[in-house]
Amino acid sequence: MSEDIGPRPGGTEWEWEGARYIGSTLESYGYSVEYQTFAVANQYIGHMTLPDGTTWMTGASTRGAFTDDAPVTGGLVDAGTGLAAEYPADVTGKIVLMTAGSSAAARNTQATLAVNRGAVGMLLINTAGARGAKAGANNPSLSVDVAVPVLGVGQAHGEWLRERLAAGETDLTIRNKVHSNLESVNVIATRPAQTPAPGDPVVVVGAHLDSVVGAPGANDDASGVGLGLELARVMKSYNTDKELRFAFWGSEERGLLGARHYVNQLSDAEANRIVAMFQADMVATSHLGATHFYAMTNDGRTNVVTDAAVAAGARQGDSSVLPGHFGSSDHVPFAQRGIPAALFIWMHVASWSPLVYEIERIYHTPEDTIALNISPERMQIALNIVGAAVFDVARKPVPALDQQPEPVLVP
Ligand code: BES
Ligand code: ZN
Repeated sequence: MSEDIGPRPGGTEWEWEGARYIGSTLESYGYSVEYQTFAVANQYIGHMTLPDGTTWMTGASTRGAFTDDAPVTGGLVDAGTGLAAEYPADVTGKIVLMTAGSSAAARNTQATLAVNRGAVGMLLINTAGARGAKAGANNPSLSVDVAVPVLGVGQAHGEWLRERLAAGETDLTIRNKVHSNLESVNVIATRPAQTPAPGDPVVVVGAHLDSVVGAPGANDDASGVGLGLELARVMKSYNTDKELRFAFWGSEERGLLGARHYVNQLSDAEANRIVAMFQADMVATSHLGATHFYAMTNDGRTNVVTDAAVAAGARQGDSSVLPGHFGSSDHVPFAQRGIPAALFIWMHVASWSPLVYEIERIYHTPEDTIALNISPERMQIALNIVGAAVFDVARKPVPALDQQPEPVLVP
């Protein structure tokens, strides 16, 4: 998904490509697949293409002009901070690259100057990353209309473009488009209990299939999708007495929309059937600092999901598995409905404060790729822990393990 499709913003054709990839993979394992759709707001998206054909997705300012995906080509000029003194008086026909001003007023001034000097497009390098992260692509906010396309590029895009400029490459093609009337989608595959009965308890394994604009989302969250697909494949033939549902949420990055939609349409009786929800989100970072594999709950209390995960860690001789306290993913709507749920994620506690978690700086950026942010070893650990924990919750009762009286054979 992160390489062949790339960024998968919620509601766009690229999220749908991801959904179809997941659905057809599940079908190839023998599942019948449900696509659950819901309406989402417009997306404002740009693309830039280099002379060698390399294409990167960016955000677009809603106040810039839109080419409706028609390409605009121009020489690229580095305008530095976008101040008048920093670039040629005449940039007619050029595309100007600059570090975005830190206020809407500053960005308005940058855009007005670039248009007055004849630019045909603008790339504003985002500098505002959240939670210590590098800045990803964004939708630059402006309070004036601008007559040319204004794209919001990630910090990494800015670095890469400046490297290309230094190497003498100057041509760039940009395009942008308003994506409207969007529908996003959850993809769900169900494996009934071995001997199904109405009202069987249900265990949900979830991951989100979307990414933020401009981020290939290899760790966030193609890693979780890979975990969900692999557990679906392996557990197809397992002997469990609970129903398993493998759910791939749309538009998580737009506000947990897919999981919230799913939870909202459950009757109380259906919600009560769900005994555990395992959310895999960012389960394979190669960032060495992220030393622990956490089962995070929204309220910070342990539950059946975190207990099963910590126990699986103990059985596997792995003390890096810990319970923790964090929201920010699709376990939250489940927890809010009273369903035991946890988020699985690699993190660590900051050396400078026991109250702060840290993660890799390149999540939500163009550098969230397999090459830069995925560890096969971490992925394997996540599979071993979550797989064992899901099985532990979903398996048939084992009297000796459950400390129940063992049956005796009556003579
Ligand atoms: N994978 C992240 C969640 C995350 C990020 C957890 C960093 C811990 C540390 C998730 O995809 C995400 O970014 N969630 C959004 C949720 C919001 C849109 C409700 C977030 O945290 O901004
Ligand atoms: Zn995520």
